Amino acid sequence: MLDAEARERVIVALDCDREEALSLADALSGHAKWLKVGMTLYYAEGPSIVREFKERGFKVFLDLKIHDIPHQVRGAARSAAGAGADLLSVHGLGAGAMLKAAREGAEKAAEATGAERAKLVAITVLTSMDEAAMEQIGLTCPITDEAARLAALAKGSGIDGIVCSPREAAEMRELLGPDALIVTPGVRPAGAELGDQSRVATPAAAISAGASHLVIGRPITGAQDPVAAYEAIVEELVRDA
Ligand code: C5P
Repeated sequence: MLDAEARERVIVALDCDREEALSLADALSGHAKWLKVGMTLYYAEGPSIVREFKERGFKVFLDLKIHDIPHQVRGAARSAAGAGADLLSVHGLGAGAMLKAAREGAEKAAEATGAERAKLVAITVLTSMDEAAMEQIGLTCPITDEAARLAALAKGSGIDGIVCSPREAAEMRELLGPDALIVTPGVRPAGAELGDQSRVATPAAAISAGASHLVIGRPITGAQDPVAAYEAIVEELVRDA
């Protein structure tokens, strides 16, 4: 894989406060292309944090896992895309009308700003859910069947792709086809600490399995030298993916 392509595929998750996030963004500027803003940072700082990253030239994955009635979701996607997010996450469990509303909201924002439409990825089954948790909410089918059903529903509802574990990426690539976005967290370079992630893959393995984008947080943000950690991941992708 070419160096520029590798940089397009790594999304650095900034799960920290504003000060640390901006200092990491400044350090990674000129190296990384994508940052991920999750609920922790967004609920503290709001759309201004997205704008600050955009002003520094980054693409932003706004990972708010939107889930509500279609009317609200249309507005949420419009607001989030309007703030400058390039990629948004929504819950597949919201079903077809909600997923279509998310797409409409992203389209409306693009019409208003003239920017490219924000892409959308659906959460299928959270990786924190096990069979017992599924049963608590009345879902008795195997997790992989549920995830596949939600992924197909998302695709049929105008959603651009999904978020899944690298372990499911190959199956999902087969199901969704070559153009779908497949975003995988749970990525750990060989030798990195697992933290609270258990079902992990190396960056090159995740890409080989079919991931289009890798979300990597603490192996970069928690490293003594985050830029060196980021560059080592890019090097691995250039060499092995
Ligand atoms: O630090 P780490 O590399 O584990 O960060 C992974 C990121 O991906 C975090 O922001 C986490 O919230 C997110 N994520 C995840 N597992 C999922 C969905 C999202 O780890 N199933």
